[in-house]
Amino acid sequence: MFRATTFGESHGGAVGVVVDGCPAGLELSEADVQKELDRRRPGQAEVTTARAEEDRVEILSGVFEGRTLGTPIAMVVWNKDADPSKYEAIRNTPRPSHADFTYQEKFGRRDWRGGGRASGRETVGRVAAGAVAKRLLSTRGIEVLGHTVEVHGVRVERDRIDIDGIRRAWQDEVRCADPEAAGRMKEEILRFKKEGDSVGGIVEVVALGVPPGLGEPVFDKLDADLAGAVMSVGAVKGVEIGAGFGVAGRLGSENNDPFIIKDGEIRTATNNSGGIQGGISNGMPIVLRAAVKPTPSILKPQGSVDLERMEETEIRIEGRHDPCIVPRIVPVLEAMVALVLADHALRGGFIGPARL
Ligand SMILES: Cc1cc2nc3c(=O)[nH]c(=O)nc-3n(C[C@H](O)[C@H](O)[C@H](O)COP(=O)(O)O)c2cc1C
Repeated sequence: MFRATTFGESHGGAVGVVVDGCPAGLELSEADVQKELDRRRPGQAEVTTARAEEDRVEILSGVFEGRTLGTPIAMVVWNKDADPSKYEAIRNTPRPSHADFTYQEKFGRRDWRGGGRASGRETVGRVAAGAVAKRLLSTRGIEVLGHTVEVHGVRVERDRIDIDGIRRAWQDEVRCADPEAAGRMKEEILRFKKEGDSVGGIVEVVALGVPPGLGEPVFDKLDADLAGAVMSVGAVKGVEIGAGFGVAGRLGSENNDPFIIKDGEIRTATNNSGGIQGGISNGMPIVLRAAVKPTPSILKPQGSVDLERMEETEIRIEGRHDPCIVPRIVPVLEAMVALVLADHALRGGFIGPARL
């Protein structure tokens, strides 16, 4: 019921999104959306790409006198800092583990400038839509928070982070709530950046205040939709909910979440389920983690194939790339979680559908 359709290529005219299904009456301004886009924007820190996009959003429709109309909300960000020259040399030699080869095979042609539609820049539209979803959810006291928990083997210490720390994590360059781990993560990123290489990591997203009852019982389970949405983001190669892959080695008595009564509400003593049981939210925080691969575009020489000559060759990638995608993907994953929760909140009758 809450739909986001993104459009645009990295070095085309613009990127953006059309959001359908947002109820009327929600207060929404360009500043609300801009705030989220600023958290995704490149060129803000040593640990991200040097591409210096201003990323100014324009809301073209669906908002009147500061509130949504219940009609499609179209938002656009014009591409201003595009520089395709660095991609010319590798247009016929697909970058290993990027989407160049698969797009070429599927469509027979592609916009090779800066990754085209498979660029991280496509996520501008997701973040803009996520800003609308977040505002919608906030009317019901739901908050979605993302933070970095691991970069190339450097992990946060759980007893050094709490919810307030996670709320402030976006102020840190690597979006990490544990200042000690954050420093080591940054060192790790810069060390491999200097070597012309890249690193990956893990991002956690927590949704607070989600009432019991969001999610459909069979095919549209909340965990299934969340996993699908998060997996749809480039560079995400694994998703886990709650204890995730950790459940495999546990006993039932270790993994089950006993029910308790807290402040008059039924809750669970532990949250290995990550707030979802049987595909439906149970009132506990929703906890999800995504494994983000190291940036595929690295400066080191790599083996590829010249598609025109059908010859193996070696390529050197230029252009501006993130040495680690993790810090920039945090707001994107928050957006994806917010979009799914907004959709299920509408479907479950917790919000709308026509007006707030
Ligand atoms: C926010 C964001 C920024 C990204 N930045 C880069 C980048 O600078 N260079 C690059 O090669 N890939 C980057 N990527 C990753 C590619 O988009 C992704 O690896 C590619 O589309 C292939 O998809 P896959 O990794 O899911 O298979 C970025 C992804 C995201 C979400």
